[in-house]
Amino acid sequence: MKRRLHIILFVTSFLPVILFKLLSRGGGGTIGQVRAAVVLGFVLGVVQFFLSRRLLRHNTYLEKAFLGFLGIGILWIFLAPPEAAGLFALYSTSLLYLTLFLTTLVPQMAGRDPFTYAIAKQWYPASVWNTPDFRIINLRITYVWSAIFLVCFLSSFGGHGRVLFTIVIPLVLILALGIPFSRRYPKLYLKRRFAVAGIDRSAMPSSARELVLGMPGVFDGVKGRDIAGDIQFDLSGEGGGLVFLSMAGGQCASHEGRSPNPLLTIRSPADVWLKIASGEIDRPGALMDGLYTVEGDMGLLSRMGELFRRPGSKSDTRHEVRRDGPMKTRMEPVRILAVQGSPRPKTGNTAVLLERFLKGAESQGAVTEVIYLKEKNIRPCQGCYTCWTKTPGVCVFDDDMTELLEKVKACDVLVYATPLYVYNVSALMKAFQERMIPLLDPHLVKDDGIHRHPGRFVTYRKMVLVANCGFPEVAHFNGVRQVFRQLERSSGMPLVGEILMPAGELLARQGFRPVVQPVLDAVYRAGVELVTDGAVSKETEAAVQSPVMGADEFASMANMYWDSHAEDAQEESPLHAGRINDMDQLLRGMAASLDSQAAGDMKATIQFRVTGSQPGNWFLTIGDGKCTASVGKTASPSLTIHTPSDVWLAIANRELNGQKAFMEGRYTVEGDMGVLMAMQRIFKK
Ligand SMILES: Cc1cc2nc3c(=O)[nH]c(=O)nc-3n(C[C@H](O)[C@H](O)[C@H](O)COP(=O)(O)O)c2cc1C
Repeated sequence: MKRRLHIILFVTSFLPVILFKLLSRGGGGTIGQVRAAVVLGFVLGVVQFFLSRRLLRHNTYLEKAFLGFLGIGILWIFLAPPEAAGLFALYSTSLLYLTLFLTTLVPQMAGRDPFTYAIAKQWYPASVWNTPDFRIINLRITYVWSAIFLVCFLSSFGGHGRVLFTIVIPLVLILALGIPFSRRYPKLYLKRRFAVAGIDRSAMPSSARELVLGMPGVFDGVKGRDIAGDIQFDLSGEGGGLVFLSMAGGQCASHEGRSPNPLLTIRSPADVWLKIASGEIDRPGALMDGLYTVEGDMGLLSRMGELFRRPGSKSDTRHEVRRDGPMKTRMEPVRILAVQGSPRPKTGNTAVLLERFLKGAESQGAVTEVIYLKEKNIRPCQGCYTCWTKTPGVCVFDDDMTELLEKVKACDVLVYATPLYVYNVSALMKAFQERMIPLLDPHLVKDDGIHRHPGRFVTYRKMVLVANCGFPEVAHFNGVRQVFRQLERSSGMPLVGEILMPAGELLARQGFRPVVQPVLDAVYRAGVELVTDGAVSKETEAAVQSPVMGADEFASMANMYWDSHAEDAQEESPLHAGRINDMDQLLRGMAASLDSQAAGDMKATIQFRVTGSQPGNWFLTIGDGKCTASVGKTASPSLTIHTPSDVWLAIANRELNGQKAFMEGRYTVEGDMGVLMAMQRIFKK
């Protein structure tokens, strides 16, 4: 009812000036007729003004402008000398256009609402009045009207009262340009700005409630990193319900029920929200049409397309877009595809890291699959671009990558597991990455100020990088991290975990298991977090990277390892004559062989926990350049060596390389690794 009243009063606000124009005969009347016209027009304007004030409690810019125009007209025509008074009558039409031009231009230039708000607010629901799009649309329409009234003013002023210039041209402009533009532009604007590609609805959840519960699966954690709060959905009708999304730290989770303090509340019939999600109707357009309502942070509403977008479908409507798999809901297990790029696929260090990570994910119900690239036939890309031209999306090579691409398309999380090779991924992994270009669309689109190739297929995939490197400093990963962040930016696939282990050579060595155990525990936790929180936390990533021993200590140990291997190649077969066969004799012999000069002022106790054919406990006490061997256990040894007797005997008899045996896990140690390394130096051979 109020809306109708608004429209009636908007239309009647033109009556005072129309009456004035009729009674003054369009400027051709006598001075008496013009005086009567301006007074009657003014009186009608006052009636209109107070009627609006009373019924709507406000006045439009037009009412004020027309009243002002007629008020000035009265002053002019009654107070000015007769010749000048005649000028008002003569130029009243031009002055009216000038008034309209100023009315349409000045308010928004002075930071006020544009004049079209008066009518636009009657057509569109209150929930959109504060959206940036509503303002942009109104401003643009207003400027078109300003331009029209300026042309009307110039035409009428230059046309010296001729009907063609004062009436016909302005009417044509208003009826053929101004009104149709005002009616069609909002839809046109929304269509261009929020063009959405249609999506196969059969692959979507059947209810809006499930759809919203699955929205965390399409959340762009990178773009949404700054958001902390909830979006409440109040979905009415069949398939609806109360559901809310909680976002924080680039992660999103869905819950059923009511959020205690949502940033934004969306109230929508369930079927409308399904249509919006499938692209049948555009979200802002539906809001403008009042199909759903919102309350709260309108800025957050306008970011929803970006936060929950489907990479690849975004601005590209030239290609048929299809979904890679069913819409994910929280009921479905997360499908993790791990691609393993180590040339030592099952016995290397990458394998140890990846296995722990996947175990963590599986413990939370994830379904995992590992692809060992070493076992696959994947030719490097030859750059023919056939997959972008003659056979879009299909590579010329029909090797193992054909099947792998299908697996990639079907997974929720793609894990890139690789050793660091020359500051980047391994060659096996690089070939795999190159061969993923059939998944891209060749066109260049601009996103956040930089060009990229959109995805050919809609995807909800996330990425995780699992890598280890030989050097002990985490800085060695800087290059590969950069590569993956660039990949994240261009692919739109969030990188939700960086599992990076320096000094990775310790991973597959059984002897170092106790040393690396805290890292492996953190890697397992990372797998758990991926499934439960959608991303690995920064704390867990830091725990994986934290050094398991000092970098210098690691370096000297590694150097000794390489030296011992070089020695192995040069050394002759060990001499078997005079072999020591008794553990007790051996340890006492060790104590006696201490090189006091090499030991210097070193103080340490070395506990031997011996198993095997000669089990027992011994310990060596080193101090003041001397060493003594004792049977039994000491209270707090600097180093404990757990070894089978035959292993230690073989080492002592130089049949086995001590460093190599350690690396192979034939004996293990606990405590100060520095003491272990010093042993080679302080005990004579
Ligand atoms: C060809 C080659 C290049 C390597 N480049 C690097 C490197 O740039 N930085 C680094 O820290 N380690 C480098 N490494 C060491 C490996 O990253 C390290 O040995 C890793 O633990 C191997 O993992 P894997 O056992 O899964 O194969 C390189 C190793 C090889 C064989």
